Amino acid sequence: MVASDALAMLQETDQFIELNDGELVTLTADQITIENAAGEQLDRAPITVTIDAADAEKGTFPFYMLKEISEQPAVMRRLVSRYVDDAGTPQFDSAMLSALAAADRLYIVAAGTSYHAGLVGQNLFEHLAGVPTEAYLASEFGYHQPLLSAKPMFIFLTQSGETADIRQVLVNVKQAGYPSLTLTNVITSTLAREADYAVELGAGPEIAVASTKAYTAQVAVEALLAKALGQHKALPLAAAFDVAHQLSLAATGQQALIDQQDKLHELATEMFAQTRNAFFIGRGTDYYVSLEAALKLKEISYVQAEGFAAGELKHGTIALIEQDTPVVAFITDPITAARTRSNAEEVEARGAKVLRIASAALAEPGDQLIVDDLDPMLTPLLTIIPGQLLAYFTSLDRGYDVDRPRNLAKSVTVE
Ligand code: M6R
Repeated sequence: MVASDALAMLQETDQFIELNDGELVTLTADQITIENAAGEQLDRAPITVTIDAADAEKGTFPFYMLKEISEQPAVMRRLVSRYVDDAGTPQFDSAMLSALAAADRLYIVAAGTSYHAGLVGQNLFEHLAGVPTEAYLASEFGYHQPLLSAKPMFIFLTQSGETADIRQVLVNVKQAGYPSLTLTNVITSTLAREADYAVELGAGPEIAVASTKAYTAQVAVEALLAKALGQHKALPLAAAFDVAHQLSLAATGQQALIDQQDKLHELATEMFAQTRNAFFIGRGTDYYVSLEAALKLKEISYVQAEGFAAGELKHGTIALIEQDTPVVAFITDPITAARTRSNAEEVEARGAKVLRIASAALAEPGDQLIVDDLDPMLTPLLTIIPGQLLAYFTSLDRGYDVDRPRNLAKSVTVE
């Protein structure tokens, strides 16, 4: 059997033989022959893929997406027990940490949802590990490479590990001799194999096209890695940041939101049942989560949704606000909360239907949804849950196939 992803054959086998670029495989009923471009026969041992086929089942959930949203608290807890030692320090390969510590700038290269997780990661690496960090869209970076620093290191962030836009950047990075690390959910994937280092996201198989638990796992692993790197560099801020506690608070807060599914269904109907467009606004990490919440709504409910930096509305986009235009405002950053609130009031005054999602310490009467308090760098771990569930219920109400939206594939293996 031949497939582009191990998940497609898990019901049949856990033994897989990988093929590299330029190789030719001939399958007969009883033989597999692999040759390189020069016609030489290659001997390649199979690898064992350790994904439990049962993890790839839907169970009692109506859609994979709802199952995967519901698994997020367990993923947070699993990542803590997998990566954090008894002293509260995340443990990663020391050669990899030394390579990261030697870099004068980190370049996070990713696409779609993973890019949005990379934007959240910028703050974490800069704040906890003291290293300038920038997130880039792989499809842009590949052809318009910025001026690189003297000692760059590349972090490829990818659920599938097969995204072609990212792969072409990795090929160039390797040719140039720069060090690379892939953070991926599929540790046997091409991008994991080809980078110098690889770290597993450990979210478990993600089947729904809309990425959910991989996003929160990416943010959590970035936090773990940033803390480990900061401690490797003996930075006091990293030592003081209790990442295990934060992730366990995140797990509890996520569960509280998942338990409010009925309310979120009502809000989804109220906000998005009739609309053709919608806006998500916030500042800082709330802006980054706005981008991701908008992408979720777009891809599975086909509502034209945009994520905006709240302060940018007045520079043009506010012209689109009409009576009943849905606007979701994320308010979790103490530094900018008052300003985002005033942006929400500005659109409300022009007729918008505003849904305010605020963290407990910043909540005000009239806010429709409250999320638990968390370090402001990590609030997307909570605020994206209503973003995911609002998209899920909107798609459901409109009668679409939530797991398999039109025109999209799970692994995007073309540029
Ligand atoms: O597998 P990757 O994380 O590299 O995929 C990147 C994007 O194609 C992916 O995140 C896409 O945006 C999601 N399916 C959106 O939910």
